[in-house]
Amino acid sequence: MQVVASLSLKGGVGKTTVALGLAGAAQQHGLRTLVVDLDPQANATIALDVGPTSATVADVLDEPRLSVLRAAIAPSAWGEGLDVMVGAEQAERHNHPEPGPAQVGRLRRALQRLDRLDADSVDGLDDEAPDPYRLVVVDCPPSLGQLTRSALAAADRAVLVTDPTMFAVSGVQRAFDAVQTERQRSNPDLQPLGVLINRVRPRNAEHDFRIAELRELFGPLVLPGVLPDRSAIQQAQGACMPIQRWDTPGAREASTVFTLLLGRVLRSERPRRTPRVATAPPAPN
Ligand SMILES: Nc1ncnc2c1ncn2[C@@H]1O[C@H](COP(=O)(O)OP(=O)(O)O)[C@@H](O)[C@H]1O
Ligand SMILES: [Mg+2]
Repeated sequence: MQVVASLSLKGGVGKTTVALGLAGAAQQHGLRTLVVDLDPQANATIALDVGPTSATVADVLDEPRLSVLRAAIAPSAWGEGLDVMVGAEQAERHNHPEPGPAQVGRLRRALQRLDRLDADSVDGLDDEAPDPYRLVVVDCPPSLGQLTRSALAAADRAVLVTDPTMFAVSGVQRAFDAVQTERQRSNPDLQPLGVLINRVRPRNAEHDFRIAELRELFGPLVLPGVLPDRSAIQQAQGACMPIQRWDTPGAREASTVFTLLLGRVLRSERPRRTPRVATAPPAPN
């Protein structure tokens, strides 16, 4: 199980869009995926069109017991192989600005519990269990409080999402610092996967300038594939559909970027200590 957080300390830059795009790419490539919706606005849960559940991520953070976890996870209407740990406004009560280590570690413990359960099912201890989650995508809120820190404490990799605007450099720098800090504090395995520039318009001088600036400062950390500004992204989200199934040229452009991102996620995986079922990675292009 590989855990990837979609991070930016700014609202509206595309964290949820990237979480959804990555989850859709993983589903398309047959990788069983869980989206953890840590944002109290629960936009990912809405776009993934999840039915009612008796618990939410807020309850998991109260008490990461297996029964609570099971009650908080539901299938997405996007189809087979994609589940959601549902978001809720109540998660805000877990967004303490100065959380202690036990609070920050709760999501990590919950996901480790799920992973152990998955390992049992692979070992044949539970015949009824579905395949293990290959990927967990955590959609973060925009602030650097307990919720975002919980995501970073649980994640192997963080995608730093930004738009190509004047404040991009300082925003990415702060997100990068948050990753470094959490790695030192609680999660030595955490690494930035890269900076994904979103909402890029072609032939826009300001965007070109900002992209060049980001590449100069963050070098190879800036992902080569930028996500274009395409109304298909909003349309697919509004229709609660994965962009991968929204058949327009703009949607196909965005899907390609998410497939590349998924490839990078899978290539970045650490070797596992316990054997897992082999799953074919997507084609590199
Ligand atoms: N590449 C894009 N092209 C067009 N619209 C986009 C794109 N990325 C994000 N949006 C839209 O911008 C809004 C904010 O994006 P969202 O992913 O919710 O940001 P965040 O999660 O960081 O707050 C949403 O309405 C989303 O559909
Ligand atoms: Mg969001």
